[in-house]
Amino acid sequence: MAEPQTTPRPGLGPDPAVAAPRWRPGDARPDIASMIRVDQAGEYGATRIYAGQQAVLGARHPASRVIARMQVQEERHLRHFDEMMIDRGVRPTLLQPLWNIAGHGLGVVTALLGPEAAMACTAAVETEIDKHYGAQLEALREDDPDLSGAIAEFRTEEIEHRDTAVAAGAENSFGYPILSGLIRAGCRVAIGLSKRI
Ligand SMILES: [Fe+2]
Ligand SMILES: [Fe+2]
Repeated sequence: MAEPQTTPRPGLGPDPAVAAPRWRPGDARPDIASMIRVDQAGEYGATRIYAGQQAVLGARHPASRVIARMQVQEERHLRHFDEMMIDRGVRPTLLQPLWNIAGHGLGVVTALLGPEAAMACTAAVETEIDKHYGAQLEALREDDPDLSGAIAEFRTEEIEHRDTAVAAGAENSFGYPILSGLIRAGCRVAIGLSKRI
């Protein structure tokens, strides 16, 4: 009976049939690539929402100062995921042009409803993002400290945005439960699509 083949595979690393696959830093594991893709899409969407709101409210509105501070942080989050995508060879979502228009449109519409509705939008979005980042951190556990460190840091700021928006009167906006429910549902759909497409 023939012995099982144990020929060394110079240059090829451990035989995948023998050794469990080991991921090296920088490898784009499918799930991690999808995480970075959806996170970059979300941060991009956030910058578009705030841009739309500021286009309506103008620079002098008191709400604009609050929005501008959050916007600076969203831009930093986005840059970080942009760089991570380039470093790891992760492609962006194909839906980016849609998030460009949908994010900006959501910002414009909520700001037209009034500054409290603009804040309701932030509170709704950040509630979903907090849950989303929390789920990613749970899935990552000890894996990829580079990514999980960024997610944990950004999540803290997203929670601050949510609290800021609530403090600025989000819950006093007209039709808050419906508005909030619609935006949260939209976020969940956007997150689901950006993971896959
Ligand atoms: Fe963000
Ligand atoms: Fe945020």
